[in-house]
Amino acid sequence: MIKVKSLKFRYPKNEDYTVKGIDFEIAKGEIFGFLGPSGAGKSTTQRLLIKLLRDFEGEVEYCGRPLKSYNDEFYQDIGVSFEMPISFSKLTAMENLDFFKQLYRHPVDVEPMLKRIGLWDDRDKKAGEFSKGMKIRLNFVRALLNNPKMLFLDEPTNGLDPVNARIMKDMILEFREQGGTVFLTSHIMSDVDELCDRVAFIVDGKLQEIDSPRNLKIKYGKRTVKVEYKEEGQLIQREFTMDEIKTPAFFELLQNKDIETLHSGETTLEEIFIKVTGVHLRG
Ligand SMILES: Nc1ncnc2c1ncn2[C@@H]1O[C@H](COP(=O)(O)OP(=O)(O)O)[C@@H](O)[C@H]1O
Ligand SMILES: [Mg+2]
Repeated sequence: MIKVKSLKFRYPKNEDYTVKGIDFEIAKGEIFGFLGPSGAGKSTTQRLLIKLLRDFEGEVEYCGRPLKSYNDEFYQDIGVSFEMPISFSKLTAMENLDFFKQLYRHPVDVEPMLKRIGLWDDRDKKAGEFSKGMKIRLNFVRALLNNPKMLFLDEPTNGLDPVNARIMKDMILEFREQGGTVFLTSHIMSDVDELCDRVAFIVDGKLQEIDSPRNLKIKYGKRTVKVEYKEEGQLIQREFTMDEIKTPAFFELLQNKDIETLHSGETTLEEIFIKVTGVHLRG
């Protein structure tokens, strides 16, 4: 669906390149996660892929044709949500959507989406009076307005409460089930882990790793069993590797101690990210 080769980009007023030669492909029907710390170049890469920034070096193909060969028809095909949601603040939510609807050849019925995402009762309120979370949700509906083949979502769940984040993630997963392709940037590792078929780690404009979350966990992970038990009134925690649980020491502990909790620990994407990049994530 998307093919990127040696992509480089420098903002005209900057000395350094922001995107420093990256390569990746996104298959049709895939949710591709673009992860990295603040300032790594995630949003810039999204702006390049949606033709908002045009003067890049290298190659970008969309559906087998150079991105540069597309005119504004391209925007009939894709849905975008930006990091900072934008809407006409003096117009109501519904008026905002009606405005964008007229730009599209095949707009969808927004009622079921607004109901699902919890904005139906607020549809006649001015967008300017919306909370940040409501604005984010309104922008997400707008991204789906043209029944797009591909979605570009910049930090889609950032700033949403857990219930609304859950609804949005379900909608993203359903979009993929119906054949849609997604490019998604995020620094929220648990979301990425749950949603993405493959992820790329970007640090300072360069890609460090591209693989499925599962393969990355196998590659970087250490699988362990964590045991908590009481000894002389004190809570003690111990961690065993998969090899160590075959040893007598582990069995003796299970037999002789007052076990409080016992669970297997899996390396999280966040731990892998820190390992791969040496960068600690916030948020
Ligand atoms: N419009 C701009 N003009 C100049 N530099 C920019 C602009 N937007 C972003 N940058 C710079 O590019 C780098 C990457 O930014 P960005 O793509 O927003 O990172 P991320 O989304 O990963 O946090 C940062 O150093 C940022 O300061
Ligand atoms: Mg960003």
